[in-house]
Amino acid sequence: MLRVKWRFFSRFSADPLPMFNEDDEHDLADGVKPLRHAVAKADGLLIATPEYNHSFPGVLKNAIDWLSRGTDSVLAGKPMAVIGASTGSWGTRLAQAALRQVLTATEARVMPGPMLFVARASDRLGVDGQLHDPELTESLSALVAHLGDWITLHNFHGEPSPRLDPSMS
Ligand SMILES: Cc1cc2nc3c(=O)[nH]c(=O)nc-3n(C[C@H](O)[C@H](O)[C@H](O)COP(=O)(O)O)c2cc1C
Repeated sequence: MLRVKWRFFSRFSADPLPMFNEDDEHDLADGVKPLRHAVAKADGLLIATPEYNHSFPGVLKNAIDWLSRGTDSVLAGKPMAVIGASTGSWGTRLAQAALRQVLTATEARVMPGPMLFVARASDRLGVDGQLHDPELTESLSALVAHLGDWITLHNFHGEPSPRLDPSMS
């Protein structure tokens, strides 16, 4: 079976992103272009979210709004997985559910499972930000392996997945 080779992960800061404004979307701010470009080029995405007030943070919604727009939405058809960690005992269940709902609107191909809800994150991640919990390390490795298969499945013919008929949305 064809396997995705993970060459590198890129991380972007949301700081340079202005608040989304439909009036500005045809003349993209400089802060938006690198993120759009990186997502367009990526084979797939792994979105990790905390939970803010039973949802995912507004900065992430803002980034999704910027990425989702235009005839060249860079999220439509993009294979991706969602994970999350919070200091509470529910481990971002509500944040991830809300995020999946929003990503459905973008026509992204969100992997249905396995899911990863990291509860009591402050006990499971070291102060250095590293994973020291073997069980969590194993779960995350398994999820990333599944995401590789999911990406392969959706790029099997080397073509981006077609957008759905907009008249049906
Ligand atoms: C404004 C705010 C709201 C939060 N709401 C929740 C919540 O509803 N449920 C939860 O489990 N944790 C909640 N938390 C805790 C965050 O999930 C936790 O601090 C998270 O690990 C922080 O990640 P970050 O440093 O990447 O933002 C909240 C934190 C903040 C700052």
